[in-house]
Amino acid sequence: MIPQPFIHDLLSRVDIVDAIDRHVPLKKAGANFVACCPFHSEKTPSFTVSQTKQFYHCFGCGAHGNAISFLIDYSGLSFVEAVRDLAAYVGMQVPVQQVDTTSNQIDTNDLSQYRIERDGIHNSEVSPQDLINVMQVATQFYREQLKVSEKAIAYLKKRGLSGKTAARFAMGYAPAGWQNLEAVFPDYQSEETRGLLVKAGLIIINDEARQYDRFRDRIMFPILNQKGQIVGFGGRVLEQDEPKYLNSPETILFEKGRELYNFFSARRAIREANCVIVVEGYMDVIALSQHGIDYAVAALGTATTSFHIQKLLRQTDRIIFCFDGDKAGRKAAWRALENSLALISDDKYLSFLFLPEGEDPDSYVCRYGKESFERQLKQAIPLSEFLFKELCSGINLQTGEGRAKLVNDTKPLLQQVKAPALSLILLNRLVELSGISRDELEDLLQVKRISTARKTGNAHRKQQITLYHRLIRMLLYSPNYIAKLDRNLLVECSEDTEEFAALKTLVDFLNTHAHLAESKSTPSVLTYLQDSPYRTLLESIESETLEWGDPDDIEMEFLDTLKKLQQIQNKKRMTELHSKSLDRLTDEEKRELQRLAML
Ligand code: UTP
Ligand code: MN
Repeated sequence: MIPQPFIHDLLSRVDIVDAIDRHVPLKKAGANFVACCPFHSEKTPSFTVSQTKQFYHCFGCGAHGNAISFLIDYSGLSFVEAVRDLAAYVGMQVPVQQVDTTSNQIDTNDLSQYRIERDGIHNSEVSPQDLINVMQVATQFYREQLKVSEKAIAYLKKRGLSGKTAARFAMGYAPAGWQNLEAVFPDYQSEETRGLLVKAGLIIINDEARQYDRFRDRIMFPILNQKGQIVGFGGRVLEQDEPKYLNSPETILFEKGRELYNFFSARRAIREANCVIVVEGYMDVIALSQHGIDYAVAALGTATTSFHIQKLLRQTDRIIFCFDGDKAGRKAAWRALENSLALISDDKYLSFLFLPEGEDPDSYVCRYGKESFERQLKQAIPLSEFLFKELCSGINLQTGEGRAKLVNDTKPLLQQVKAPALSLILLNRLVELSGISRDELEDLLQVKRISTARKTGNAHRKQQITLYHRLIRMLLYSPNYIAKLDRNLLVECSEDTEEFAALKTLVDFLNTHAHLAESKSTPSVLTYLQDSPYRTLLESIESETLEWGDPDDIEMEFLDTLKKLQQIQNKKRMTELHSKSLDRLTDEEKRELQRLAML
């Protein structure tokens, strides 16, 4: 018998994408990974793996589970063997435990003890708010240092930045020297403060236990999250040095693949322009802004991820990717394209602008000015054109083999496109380029079937979805909502009774295992509900979260659902009170009725 807490910990450390990819090669598709399902025979991938939520789901056959169940079903291992296999892979030792015959539920006490041990190694936990405060203090310090550093001011002047712009972006300067933050944080020597600074990514403790500032002699660019809180920094050297930009490491506040530089400040400008420009660098964003173009954002030394694109598409219908004209820039653009395909709808317009060799948006706008840059923006090539331009480069379309390769390379991309019109346009273009008829291509690429099947499936679900269904989805996606859910709101009404029962099972489970709901990287709670009669229903609902992205939106949906539940309850109570004749109501009930009528 393997202790459940170990299983929990194991699943938090294993990456299901790695674990599956070793056996079934996965391809990135939007926010998820896909492959042809290993559990049934198919030609179009409907086996989907969520990296964020660590589960897989097949839209074809309904196979669903975590890394352990994958090994059991795919490799035919026993449960214990599968656990051993995964543990070995991540270097964990499988503990053994006396057999407990009563149940396979998790023992809460057991788990909390286990956590204490583990936390001893990883240091005690810190709250995001503490880290945000630390980042704030550091930003203030860097800003003051910029004001008194001639060298840093001279550098920014040389790059054409005004003091006003530097202030608007809260830019700063981390002075040279290894221990400058020591004087900034009063109880720097305390274990707690040091822990905070390490976790904020501001100081580094090396193997000899020496501590030193991460950012030294660099221009500092604070990075804000969607709420306007400082979650990270980029730091640029003043002279030629390596690395040119040093960024904060990933912390509990800062996940590079999710943040965009200037997104918070640019939101309004993006909405007004109904357009966002995605550029490569901090300085590009800042220079454009100084020239009056405020709707630019930059990824933070990573590729443009599907999170980024989802985030942007929620604010605007038009994205212009503006990358350097060099090879690296084209590659970055291609990655952005790949990550966009699954997310585009027909009312969105994505395009790509490559500036003349040797220019980036910063240098271009400084040299030629705002109007000229905006003229360039109008010349951006639409996504469909860029796609085929890249696919055709290096292929000889005069030969049958060349055209076959083109079809082959286009296939996985086209299959991701869910926007019906765009999908047809790409298909028609492929008809022209390949000389293969539309019918034959549809057969070959299996695009028609997938797009219609998915679409009707979704529309169907959306219409019928009940409040309970919505709640289940949100709790599976983010179990910590349980803390905000008042169980009294869950009254049985005429909605689907099976869903209601499933919801109650889930809520009861989460209420008794609150620690499972704490961190965002925990494995899906369904891991622990394998024996529930509602397992299949819950799994199918969980699969709907595969495309979800922004926690803020989900929060909105959650609050909205709570509100609706409250309304239902109010109505029910009113009906109840109304059914009594007025003179039989107590004073308190009368007041209640009055209050309810006002809502
Ligand atoms: P670039 O090298 O294109 O820099 O990197 P840039 O923005 O034009 O910078 P300047 O004009 O020389 O100051 C683009 C982006 O890639 C990331 C940074 O986010 C940078 O803004 N990057 C670059 C790094 O993270 N580390 C590096 O060493 C270089
Ligand atoms: Mn530059």
